[in-house]
Amino acid sequence: MGKSIKSLRGMNDLLAETSEKFRHVVTVSEKVATRYGFKYIETPLLEETALFKRSVGESSDIVGKEMYQFTDKGGNDVCLRPEGTAGVVRSFIENKFDKRGGKEKVFYHGAMFRYERPQKGRLRLFHQFGCESFGEASVFEDISTIFMIRDIFNELNIKFKLKINSLGCQTCMPSYREKLTAYLEDKKDSLCADCHRRIETNPIRTLDCKIESCQQELSDAPKMADHLCEDCDSDFETLKRVLTKNGMEFEIDKNLVRGLDYYSKTAFEFVSDNIGSQNAIAGGGRYDRLVEFLGGKETPAVGFALGIERILDLIEIQESEKSGYYFGVLDEEYFEELFLVASQKRESEKVHIENKKRSLNKHLQNADKLGFRFCAILGSDEVQNGTIWIRDLQLKNDETFSIDSF
Ligand code: HAM
Repeated sequence: MGKSIKSLRGMNDLLAETSEKFRHVVTVSEKVATRYGFKYIETPLLEETALFKRSVGESSDIVGKEMYQFTDKGGNDVCLRPEGTAGVVRSFIENKFDKRGGKEKVFYHGAMFRYERPQKGRLRLFHQFGCESFGEASVFEDISTIFMIRDIFNELNIKFKLKINSLGCQTCMPSYREKLTAYLEDKKDSLCADCHRRIETNPIRTLDCKIESCQQELSDAPKMADHLCEDCDSDFETLKRVLTKNGMEFEIDKNLVRGLDYYSKTAFEFVSDNIGSQNAIAGGGRYDRLVEFLGGKETPAVGFALGIERILDLIEIQESEKSGYYFGVLDEEYFEELFLVASQKRESEKVHIENKKRSLNKHLQNADKLGFRFCAILGSDEVQNGTIWIRDLQLKNDETFSIDSF
């Protein structure tokens, strides 16, 4: 006998006890996204590595440390997708949506892969539900996106907090970046090795460093939200005003930089207080330059993704009502007859056919345990009379039907 094989670290099976919750998340998210005018698409799980390098960014942990990257048999440098936006944008350009007016609203869900150190809420294989809206430059589209996520979480009965920030645009970001870099150079000696790398590649990332001493050191660092150009500032003000007017609570987090390089202007995260340290349950923002970066015609865009596994523990599904039919025989010789009747019933109902003979009581207990509403039994009397005995386990009464009418 060979050694037993286990699933890879950070990659879990989705078993029947949780799959119902998983499907519930997808169903609710799809329903809400459809209400907001989004349509379903799928893109491949495997893409050229260059796609993620150019979009998510080489300086990000996702690309720098966490990619499932390999050379395929044809010698191509490929990668399992660590997130969904890059593939959607690639597809948007490849299918010429950018040249045909550029308006498109799509949703997707599926597996994402990041070679992270697994812990509670952090997996190597996880699933996202995401939406991308192309062609709307307005901050109101950002607000709609935020409202859509709010609606999804409300329907799922999940409590959340919203954090927002503005990451500026090509007008205000470069001068802010210079200011920040000068500040960081002064502090360099007290920062970690990762932050040293970030100063070179993407200085704003230092604000997001998880190391306590770096956080303390950088507490008075200049923040993007305080250095916005007129346009970005006005959008950020509108964002805050409209959220407030609509009773949507939020917190401004000037250190919220997101782990992916493609954002500009609005960035946001939804967090939960009830799931431990990996508390981001959804994240997203505006990415007006990405289509262009990937070779398409300049197209504004905004989107988000929620992590399905992270919210499974927060969901309670009402125990489903008893339903369907359990069929059993009191003697094996009636089984063929039972099988015929039960198979016909299956055309319209959920049916379990118990293929071992049992006592009536055992059948009733069994049917109840399996959650069936009706327990249908064939014994000698029934077969003789061409009938079937049925107990309604919910209303707790029984009746005998002729097989023909049943
Ligand atoms: P993200 O913030 O990297 O954004 O991921 C979105 C969500 O995926 C997170 O808030 C979290 O719930 C979940 N997630 C991320 N990593 C893991 C993990 N290792 N294990 C379990 N769950 C995880 C994006 O991916 C962007 N593509 C979102 C977006 C779409 N921005 C614009 N459009």
